[in-house]
Amino acid sequence: MNKSILLLLLFFLLNPSLLATSHPLNPIPVTLSVADFGAAGDGLRYDTEAIQSAINSCPEGDPCHVTFPAPGKYLTATVFLKSGVVLNVESGATILGGTRLEDYPEESWRWYVVVAENATDVGIRGGGAVDGQAAKFVVREDPRKNVMVSWNQTGACLGDECRPRLIGFLDCNNVQVSNITLNQPAYWCLHLVRSNNICIQDIAIYGDFNIPNNDGIDIEDSNNTVITRCHIDTGDDAICPKSSTGPVYNLTVTDCWIRSKSSAIKLGSASWFDFKHFVFDNIAIVDSHRGIGFQIRDGGNVSDIVFSNMNISTRYYDSLWWGRAEPIYVTSCPRDSSSKEASISNVLFINITANSENGIFLSGSKRGLLRNLRFIDMDITYRRFTNYAGGLLDYRPGCQELVKHRTAGIMMEHIEGLEVKNVEMRWSNDQLEQWNNPLEFRPSTVNNISFLNFNSGLYTNSKSNY
Ligand SMILES: *[C@@H]1O[C@H](CO)[C@@H](O)[C@H](O)[C@H]1NC(C)=O
Ligand SMILES: *[C@@H]1O[C@H](CO)[C@@H](O)[C@H](O)[C@H]1NC(C)=O
Ligand SMILES: *[C@@H]1O[C@H](CO)[C@@H](O)[C@H](O)[C@H]1NC(C)=O
Ligand SMILES: *[C@@H]1O[C@H](CO)[C@@H](O)[C@H](O)[C@H]1NC(C)=O
Ligand SMILES: *[C@@H]1O[C@H](CO)[C@@H](O)[C@H](O)[C@H]1NC(C)=O
Ligand SMILES: *[C@@H]1O[C@H](CO)[C@@H](O)[C@H](O)[C@H]1NC(C)=O
Ligand SMILES: *[C@@H]1O[C@H](CO)[C@@H](O)[C@H](O)[C@H]1NC(C)=O
Ligand SMILES: *[C@@H]1O[C@H](CO)[C@@H](O)[C@H](O)[C@H]1NC(C)=O
Ligand SMILES: *[C@@H]1O[C@H](CO)[C@@H](O)[C@H](O)[C@H]1NC(C)=O
Repeated sequence: MNKSILLLLLFFLLNPSLLATSHPLNPIPVTLSVADFGAAGDGLRYDTEAIQSAINSCPEGDPCHVTFPAPGKYLTATVFLKSGVVLNVESGATILGGTRLEDYPEESWRWYVVVAENATDVGIRGGGAVDGQAAKFVVREDPRKNVMVSWNQTGACLGDECRPRLIGFLDCNNVQVSNITLNQPAYWCLHLVRSNNICIQDIAIYGDFNIPNNDGIDIEDSNNTVITRCHIDTGDDAICPKSSTGPVYNLTVTDCWIRSKSSAIKLGSASWFDFKHFVFDNIAIVDSHRGIGFQIRDGGNVSDIVFSNMNISTRYYDSLWWGRAEPIYVTSCPRDSSSKEASISNVLFINITANSENGIFLSGSKRGLLRNLRFIDMDITYRRFTNYAGGLLDYRPGCQELVKHRTAGIMMEHIEGLEVKNVEMRWSNDQLEQWNNPLEFRPSTVNNISFLNFNSGLYTNSKSNY
């Protein structure tokens, strides 16, 4: 009899209640350890078979915890989760992603270190880590942006977006990712695709600040996601809802700390379907290239979005990275001549403090208006402290690309309905460029705007000295 079946039998003998009913109200999960299936955990030998047989030995449909004991580094090719299975990576244990093309399935859309496909009640937890070994995918280090390996032999993907992601939940229901550290993804880190009912909490993501496309959390075509208590420090977009084959409804993000060399929070740029009912609350955005970004380009409409209680600091980095130090960036324009225009409506920004090298950029397009935007209780300080050139409006991707334009506190075009209330704007008196230009708009494209208790002025040294 093989070892796994023996273990299972033993387990059921000791827990007869599990056999009595297959779905008890509070099911006690079966627990299996990858060590009992032969995993070495030495970081050198592949533990793929041991890990996969542990998962496959979990009873169908019942909750099952597959434990990675500490200490240990479990090197593996793609691990496939199945319904009911939660990986329990103990504190001090790490799942180490393989770095060879043959470690991943044939189809590039399935390239993940850990992936769940069409599964329910799945997740990862336990206090340990999953590591994508990104450094091994760097071809050439570049202080502006590293050049990465491209696994495009099969022609399945092109250029620098052809590497494995770290963790994926595709077509899943009831996903739980909690208490885990995700280190050094080679490409995107945590990817949710066409899934529903997702809870992500107490997680940390550490990407490389010079590696392109190492997004933090991408919520694609998925509904009902809650992210709370997260710490994300990564080169590319940190929290990034996208819509490619379906809409994204009901996303709540609270209590997070984020640093990104691109956007800390970004809606888009894949935006073929709607984004609706999002709440972002109590979030600190630190030294990022863009704070809150809407890059709507493909015809999906955006509505009912709230950002509250946030502290944002943004700065310039190399313009190879999207972003121009805007604390808030709301744009909708057709990506190219074949793209549809889309609207962004009912967006509230409230209780927001920002320290930034550039202003707020709000730009719709002729038939893709921004409607009913509200900025309430905000305190914005503009100060230059890097030597990167400013003075550009950034419409990327597509649209008008980069356009020379002097910095404005709030730049507005194609807006119908803007309310600004209790907003304090301060300009530091460093004369790096034309400065203290509080509001600017493209005439006759802005309608129904109101300013109540809006102040803007220069300050020299102390904040109270205007
Ligand atoms: C999930 O199942 C559906 C229906 O069989 C299938 O179309 C889809 O490709 C599956 N998803 C994945 C990620 O395998
Ligand atoms: C995370 O997991 C570790 C190890 O199991 C545990 O000690 C700790 O309490 C957990 N933390 C949270 C926030 O659940
Ligand atoms: C692979 O990527 C390289 C560099 O981006 C490109 O020149 C080449 O055409 C690609 N090949 C395939 C088959 O996609
Ligand atoms: C999300 O909700 C929308 C609207 O009900 C629905 O059309 C879509 O299929 C849902 N997506 C998933 C992955 O359940
Ligand atoms: C979004 O959340 C609301 C309120 O909680 C709920 O009524 C609605 O069904 C959810 N939408 C989807 C697509 O699940
Ligand atoms: C966005 O809204 C416009 C105008 O209401 C509508 O014509 C279009 O179909 C919507 N887009 C999507 C993807 O539903
Ligand atoms: C916001 O963050 C900046 C640094 O990023 C810090 O100096 C400031 O005290 C913070 N403000 C609030 C209100 O938390
Ligand atoms: C804004 O901040 C104040 C003071 O910290 C707090 O009382 C209020 O609830 C906040 N408003 C929102 C919408 O979170
Ligand atoms: C003007 O915009 C405000 C919100 O900014 C909206 O509540 C109001 O209905 C708009 N008025 C008209 C006449 O469109």
